[in-house]
Amino acid sequence: MTKTIPEILAGETFARDDVIALLSTTDPADAEAIRTAAHRVLVDNCGTSVFLRGLVEFSNRCASDCHYCGIRKGNAGVKRYCLTKDEIVDAARFCAEAGYGSMVLQSGERRDERFVSFVEDVVCAIKKETVSNTLPRGLGITLSVGEQTPEAYKRFFNAGAHRYLLRIETSSPRLFASIHPSRQSFEARLACLAFLKDAGFQVGTGVMIGLPGQTVQDLADDVLFFRAIDADMIGMGPFIVHRQTPMARHDEAMAARKKETLELALRMIAVTRLVCRDVNIASATALQAMEPLGREMGLLHGANVVMPQATPARVRRDYQLYEGKPCLDENAQECRECLCGRIRSLGREPATGQWGDPKHFDARQRHAAAQQ
Ligand code: 5AD
Repeated sequence: MTKTIPEILAGETFARDDVIALLSTTDPADAEAIRTAAHRVLVDNCGTSVFLRGLVEFSNRCASDCHYCGIRKGNAGVKRYCLTKDEIVDAARFCAEAGYGSMVLQSGERRDERFVSFVEDVVCAIKKETVSNTLPRGLGITLSVGEQTPEAYKRFFNAGAHRYLLRIETSSPRLFASIHPSRQSFEARLACLAFLKDAGFQVGTGVMIGLPGQTVQDLADDVLFFRAIDADMIGMGPFIVHRQTPMARHDEAMAARKKETLELALRMIAVTRLVCRDVNIASATALQAMEPLGREMGLLHGANVVMPQATPARVRRDYQLYEGKPCLDENAQECRECLCGRIRSLGREPATGQWGDPKHFDARQRHAAAQQ
């Protein structure tokens, strides 16, 4: 006999069929019960603080050609840039002074030695510049610069970065192949996630929701994938069409499914919270691109991290992975005030001056120590 949603929520563990049922219910009372249960798990495991990571998109130069992404190599309409080391360190200093505690350095994907040593150098400089009484270990640094060699990951870690975001995009090898050129492989992405863990990083991954051909079973497998690889952080958002990409042909179909996609993205956050419990979950900016209050909605569905814009405004327009990116014109200070106000309006407190490491990482470390 199939279980009801309240029966599934009352259980301690979730089988694949349970996850599918949680993701597919359309009953409003069930949906609210799932959201409330996710909030409870969040409060019990992580508290109510919202951790802030200042986001610095330091370069849009990219050697990859992901079919969905606006800054893909093949998009000749993009004005390419790379911030200087000084500009990035200035942005980092702003993050530290704004009380963010931690920042994300994101860029297009490059593997040349010049790029790798630039990132290494920038991480070292930020660490040196941001040590203070409130941040004795300097600003926390998360990198999001794509697939690299195990050696490059080790160099980044030794330079002082301690978290890394690398989305699997979808845990279905079939779907992965349909949204990437053939030289970008699912296996290579998986291997990178393992290299990152070996290098000592807190590892974040995630998926896009609403991809053409993606089923609710695929999404359930995504949630189970996060659990199987023991991810510390998860970032997920809706797929949003960028018209200068090969996926532009899906524009109309995606627009027609916008409401369902947003609901599914929020449900994915709630279900991931239920299954993965003590991980950090970001309320992705793509949620806000789809719906003005999208990021707040993400926080209400179990997310506990947001990434305020800290990219210098002059280049922000040139870093559009998808269309409708919010906060293009505000300066970093305005983004801070707006976001903190939004967080407080939900009765939650933005955490200041802390790295805000995922509880899951501590548990993973303790477990590893006990095994030795
Ligand atoms: N819609 C939504 N998310 C996107 N990303 C890239 N392009 C898009 C898009 N069109 C996400 C990918 C990538 C992250 C940096 O941004 O998941 O890993």
